Amino acid sequence: MATNPPARQGARARFAPPPRASALAGWALLPLRLFLGVTFTYAGLQKVANPNFFNSASPISIHAQLVAAARVSPIHVIVRHLEGLATPIGIVIALAEIAIGLGTLLGLWLRVAAAGGALLSFFLFLTVSFHAAPFYTGADLVFFFAWLPFVIAGSATRLSLDGLVAARAAAEARRGSPEVVAVPFAQISRLCGHYEHGRCAVRDGAPCEASRCPVLAEPSFDEADDVHRRAVVLATASAALVGGVTVLGAGVGAVVGRSLGGAAVPLAPNELGAPAGTRRARSALGILLGPVKDVPVGTAATFTIPATGDPGIVVQASAGVFDAYDAVCPHAGCTVGYYAQNHVLACPCHGSQFLLDNGEVISGPAPHGLAKLTVVEGPDGNLYLK
Ligand code: FES
Repeated sequence: MATNPPARQGARARFAPPPRASALAGWALLPLRLFLGVTFTYAGLQKVANPNFFNSASPISIHAQLVAAARVSPIHVIVRHLEGLATPIGIVIALAEIAIGLGTLLGLWLRVAAAGGALLSFFLFLTVSFHAAPFYTGADLVFFFAWLPFVIAGSATRLSLDGLVAARAAAEARRGSPEVVAVPFAQISRLCGHYEHGRCAVRDGAPCEASRCPVLAEPSFDEADDVHRRAVVLATASAALVGGVTVLGAGVGAVVGRSLGGAAVPLAPNELGAPAGTRRARSALGILLGPVKDVPVGTAATFTIPATGDPGIVVQASAGVFDAYDAVCPHAGCTVGYYAQNHVLACPCHGSQFLLDNGEVISGPAPHGLAKLTVVEGPDGNLYLK
């Protein structure tokens, strides 16, 4: 019988979770698995159902989020290059979230799904919530760590397709059930028939120890590989099925979302532009931003704050009343928009809302309000930043 090289056995042993960890994880992690599965599936469907997520003119689009991330992310050099690929990246993220969510709910290729969830969460942490303050208010970091137990322990065999596949593969290979159960070692000693006064008869009377127990030894790798091969074939076929369901679900979500009109969105603001050659002109009134007519009553317009390069936003809430702010969200640096339905400024990343009158936080994780700017209307019909 062919044997496996010791190096390979050693590598497997190093990366295999302890049996008791798998047995406990199967049940103990079930609520977390359910939560992550539902959340990622929902997040992916929400993206494909919202046409504005892929509309680069919308302030809640993936493009707008990448532009914001390129300003504040520690990997801004990379993110800047991704801006041109915003739509394909958005599609990949949405489909990946649905696939990861379904894989997690079904317990199919769970370790792979969890690794994908952890990678995606870490990418979002670096791009969207790196500057969340305090750091624990950034959900992506929490998601990253929530995935790690599944990367380590997989789904075990509890209520999972991985478990069904493993059992089916073991049955086809005429092996016993692959289910891992936690049994006290003292009980193993009692049942094995080789235990005598603290010594192991099979090991020539050496002291009985769990770490060297022949009963607990891994099955030969030839046996394990046979079962493993069958399991991979079955799991791959199931994954292909789930992939089809993912694409179908995404298509249905997109159709339903578009027919319902998508989620509430901030008004797509005008970009204030001063007349050619006078963009940064300064007068006694301040820095010229652009014509008042570009900010009709009840709408917002954006501009770049010359001193900082930050995006600014100005809202004409009622005739002649202009509220202006540095539009960088104090939570993690996304760009806030004006939601006319609710008459508030809100952040598309984690939902912080701010009072239009003074920029103070209404709700959400932002630790403080928006920085207020002073914008005045000049006698020439233009807006000026003080
Ligand atoms: S960046 Fe998190 S709420 Fe704005």
